[in-house]
Amino acid sequence: LLLDEIDRVAKIAKTIIREKNVKVFSQFDTDGVSSASILAKALAREGVNFQLRILKQLTTETFAEISADENDFLIFSDFGSGQLNLLEKLLDKTQILILDHHEPTRLQHLNLFHINPMLFGEEEMSASVVCYLFAKAMSIKNADTVDLAIIGAVGDESDENWKFDGMIKKILTEGEMIGKISVSQGLRLYGRNTRPIHKSLAYTFDPYIPGVSGSESHAVQFLSDAGIRVKEHGSWVRLCDLTPDEQQKLATAIIFSRMGEAGSPDDIFGDNYTLIGRPDELQDVRELSTLVNSCGRTNNATLAMRVLLEDYSVLSRIQDVMDGYRRMIGDSLDWVRNHQSSIVKGESATYVFAGDRVPESIIGTITSIMMNSNGVDASKPLIGLADAEGGFVKVSARISKSLNHINLKDIISKAARACGGEGGGHQKAAGGLIPKGSERRFSEEIEKMKGEMIGS
Ligand code: C5P
Repeated sequence: LLLDEIDRVAKIAKTIIREKNVKVFSQFDTDGVSSASILAKALAREGVNFQLRILKQLTTETFAEISADENDFLIFSDFGSGQLNLLEKLLDKTQILILDHHEPTRLQHLNLFHINPMLFGEEEMSASVVCYLFAKAMSIKNADTVDLAIIGAVGDESDENWKFDGMIKKILTEGEMIGKISVSQGLRLYGRNTRPIHKSLAYTFDPYIPGVSGSESHAVQFLSDAGIRVKEHGSWVRLCDLTPDEQQKLATAIIFSRMGEAGSPDDIFGDNYTLIGRPDELQDVRELSTLVNSCGRTNNATLAMRVLLEDYSVLSRIQDVMDGYRRMIGDSLDWVRNHQSSIVKGESATYVFAGDRVPESIIGTITSIMMNSNGVDASKPLIGLADAEGGFVKVSARISKSLNHINLKDIISKAARACGGEGGGHQKAAGGLIPKGSERRFSEEIEKMKGEMIGS
């Protein structure tokens, strides 16, 4: 049914894009930027002009900047489904296409084309996969955007337990068949072919390695304690340089150090996806996905899109962006670690009141990292709050992978609305914006929902 609807809408869209001014809006994370890149490639192939904007989120504020009339065709990817209350205002004049995977609100309108797997009872899939299916329905030539679909899906953590299932697995096989992707099993460490292992270890936050994640010097010590050479002939050793025996030692050392962490020991193993035909340093999908995320969240989405669309002239600029992004994450984690008073343990949830000490653009990343690390109560949601622009506070909530009875999207949206804000997202990751000054009220609203969380 989903694929039928995608086919139907793709046929209609092919006509509309030739008659109207096409304006694409997409979200700033890996999934959103990958989705935008797929749409850009597909639209360029159709020979139409279009405008494209990457937004942090589709909120009342950002929506106010969007003007549209009957000559426009608006495409929203990786948001829109949860913001139909905003978009509805445009629908009498403007045709709108939504390609999204967030929990949808429902609305029927002649001018609305709403593609979201959840409307068709389908499994969860990233917006990039929805955009890929749509682009492929427009033209089979767009099958070559499969790599972008997988980058977005990995960025969105669709490969829970590090294995894709269902529709995405089929798409991955398509990628292998057309020679764009190869899949191999191994340790889930970043930069296997390009980075010194101590850096790979230090930059790995999922799986979290206590005392090692976030610290290169501790990672060097960890390797030498495990009896693994760090340098050879004056050069740093990479994961791909290790002998099978050394790889085994490394796996054992990581498993030991993670004892007491949430999850099972084999969480450290998973599928690695290699992109064929891209420069060495951009072949690992997880690394590329981090690169795109770093650019998107630091206002550099254009750089990421250029790389995704195979323009590598911007790589040196991207290196600086990534270094800055890593520092930002490291500094923010350090701040939270050194300011335990910012962490408030409620009955219903744990809160991190970060104020202006964690940038709002990464409070979601910080909340995800903390949720994956030891020391946070995994039986409750973790909610980060950081000051945002325009007198607002950004809220980011995460729950552990095993908590299936809580729907964070419902909880965060409800509490945010009660404070005059707005929210949305997924069952296990949701976010919102609330007016500055209403942080305590917001947490009280969440606390009131204790019964609801247990019962739902
Ligand atoms: O920003 P953060 O990473 O915490 O967002 C978690 C999820 O919630 C994302 O999928 C994001 O798109 C969604 N979200 C939303 N509405 C908001 C904020 C976040 O749908 N106002």
